[in-house]
Amino acid sequence: MSELGPGDEQLVKVASLARQRAYAPYSGYKVGAAIRTRRNRIHSAANVENGSYGLTVCAERCAVFTAVAAGEIADYDAIAIVIDDLVLPSPCGACRQVLHEFAPGMRVILATTGGLRATTTLRELLPDAFVLKRE
Ligand code: THU
Repeated sequence: MSELGPGDEQLVKVASLARQRAYAPYSGYKVGAAIRTRRNRIHSAANVENGSYGLTVCAERCAVFTAVAAGEIADYDAIAIVIDDLVLPSPCGACRQVLHEFAPGMRVILATTGGLRATTTLRELLPDAFVLKRE
């Protein structure tokens, strides 16, 4: 875990605002995520749950899909993930794999609304990720 970099606190702020828009009536667990690209654009999202539970999509994947839909498909610099809890969030395995597709070297900033902060990297969170090798 390393120090927060310049702009990281702003990324956390954007993720916190996105968290307020979470649709989480089943779990009550609201998550916000914000991705900063190397062009310094920020794409944020929250988790969206569904009554058929399994269709729920995490905040991190919603943020990636938002970035891709905006035409930014690679080279993300960092993602901030925010929850309202006494412990830091930890992105699920599916989200780690989806993030890896677009930015294997990205930084990951973990935060709580109460002010806890930590930073890590996707490489640390998902060593030896699956990568599809095409002919
Ligand atoms: N969730 C996320 O948004 N991100 C994670 O990394 C883990 C879990 C969401 C999915 C679901 O809406 C709720 O948190 C409880 O699992």
